[in-house]
Amino acid sequence: MCGIVAYIGEKQAYPILIKGLQRLEYRGYDSAGVALLNGQLNIYKCKGKVSDLKAHVNGTVKEGTLGMGHTRWATHGAPNDINAHPHLSESKNLAIIHNGIIENYASLKEALIQRGFSFKTETDTEVLINLIEDIKQKEQVDLEHAVRIALNQVVGAYAIVVMSKDNPDTLIAAKKSSPLVIGIGQDEYFLASDATPIIEYTKNVVYLEDEEMAIITRGEDIVMKTIQNQPVTPYIEELQMNLEALEKGGYDHFMLKEIFEQPQSIYDSLRGRMSSKEGTILLGGIKDYVQKFVAAKRIIFIACGTSWHSGLVAEYLFEDLARIPVEVEYASEFRYRNPVLYEDDIVIAISQSGETADTLAALELAKSKGATVIGICNVVGSTIARKTDAGCYTHAGPEIGVASTKAFTAQLAVLSLMALHIAQARGSITESRYRGFLTALAQIPKKVEEVLQQNDAIKAIAEKYKDAKNCLYLGRGYNFPVALEGALKFKEITYVHAEGYPAAEMKHGPIALIDEQMPVVVIATNESAYEKIVSNIQEVKARKGNIIAIVTEGDTQIKAIADFTIEIPHTIEELTPILSVVPLQLLAYHVAVMLGCHVDQPRNLAKSVTVE
Ligand code: G6P
Repeated sequence: MCGIVAYIGEKQAYPILIKGLQRLEYRGYDSAGVALLNGQLNIYKCKGKVSDLKAHVNGTVKEGTLGMGHTRWATHGAPNDINAHPHLSESKNLAIIHNGIIENYASLKEALIQRGFSFKTETDTEVLINLIEDIKQKEQVDLEHAVRIALNQVVGAYAIVVMSKDNPDTLIAAKKSSPLVIGIGQDEYFLASDATPIIEYTKNVVYLEDEEMAIITRGEDIVMKTIQNQPVTPYIEELQMNLEALEKGGYDHFMLKEIFEQPQSIYDSLRGRMSSKEGTILLGGIKDYVQKFVAAKRIIFIACGTSWHSGLVAEYLFEDLARIPVEVEYASEFRYRNPVLYEDDIVIAISQSGETADTLAALELAKSKGATVIGICNVVGSTIARKTDAGCYTHAGPEIGVASTKAFTAQLAVLSLMALHIAQARGSITESRYRGFLTALAQIPKKVEEVLQQNDAIKAIAEKYKDAKNCLYLGRGYNFPVALEGALKFKEITYVHAEGYPAAEMKHGPIALIDEQMPVVVIATNESAYEKIVSNIQEVKARKGNIIAIVTEGDTQIKAIADFTIEIPHTIEELTPILSVVPLQLLAYHVAVMLGCHVDQPRNLAKSVTVE
């Protein structure tokens, strides 16, 4: 979380920084700031979004060809003007932006106070810049040295950029556990938390690894080292992203655009990896690990949020098709639980961003115990993608809306293909089921398109339920995780309480909540448990609850008892989650818009959670 961006070159930095911050705003948006060097070191910062910062800066001089900017998701200290980054050192000669948490900041701060430093903010970041300044003065070293010594004293996570009034041609950057990428342009350099602010200027980038520093000097080549002062040769990569993918393209919100992109993003996630005609699957990223899967005694999925829900669907898929026992773990619980891990375990980390701190730590734990670690990530080159032994990208394209939509369905598409591939390799699936599955998967993008055509009808249902104070989401089997995901989408962006439950569990508690005020969304597309879900619906109706049912097209029985139904096209049961979640995304979206909520940047949330 927190977005950082910096520029050094011949252009004016301010417009580049502001545009960059807007692209990074999904990472945090409670305050923002920029620092510009132009003889003077000028800092402009305030509480609120980047648009508030623009208004705040309006009318003041914004000159400088070296500068940096930050958009914050508060960890230490309230989101206010003072705690906003950049932060100045005591002498006001040094400035820093920081993403991460300095865990030993309290003891460092205490020692600095003893040495005469005073603090204006509640942040851990101000401690770090004063530590750098103290070292610089005490040891009589240059800025690069001082940063390196300071980073050897801190415990925690950081991506930082430091600038100094006395070094008007240099930026110093470093990272550990929080991402940082350098863009290399023509006589100019960019730094950012991800490549989105860089892409319109250059495609050539260098991703910093943990404990690496970059010394970026105007007109010179980048110098990279580890914080142990070992030289590093910059590895320049070419970005595959395109700029259009980062714009709203005529939609009111990124979330709506991303919901509507799903036919394409699912197609892109499957493209080149399967042929339903030939009956073949090619997953290049895991091809050398198929035998490990064949021999595996257990698969453990680790993830957070929406990606954890994908893991739950994967549990059904891998057990059902490949007959491998599966566990699905919240990464944050797994990492601190002293879990039992074996060398023949396969641990699969699922993450849209590839940066989620808990997922990363959980996979590192699994790796240290000798398990094989596989990644399912969306962001190419992200930390999790780089730290895993092997993996498959989801290829959903950049997801900007904080509430995940197209990344979820892309994860389901890739996990379905993977489970099918492993099932075939293990000989646990019949040829006809295998072929039927592949044919159904190939048809999914088209079927998602058909679901999207019901957008207006779903909006009309949203109108009916927009004043609900609670919502219950029910599903069984493959669609139980979809109930969780539907409820998560709803509460994330409408701020209305919603709860997902296995339909049959309702009678053990949530049924007490049901009255005529309570919308109950039931995913009732399962063929295998159809009669049972009909009974669950009857139980809700008997208590005067309102039913919004997601059904398979042509359904008449549930249509006769539900208050509203939304149809999805027929597919095999294993793939219904990819279709049934789409109306739930739209329902949440429309209610959130009707309630005037900030759909793309819901309060208190961030897209990439790089703190634990
Ligand atoms: C945050 C986001 C969620 C996301 C979760 C896991 O909470 O707001 O949308 O599902 O992190 O993120 P990941 O990038 O690891 O999938």
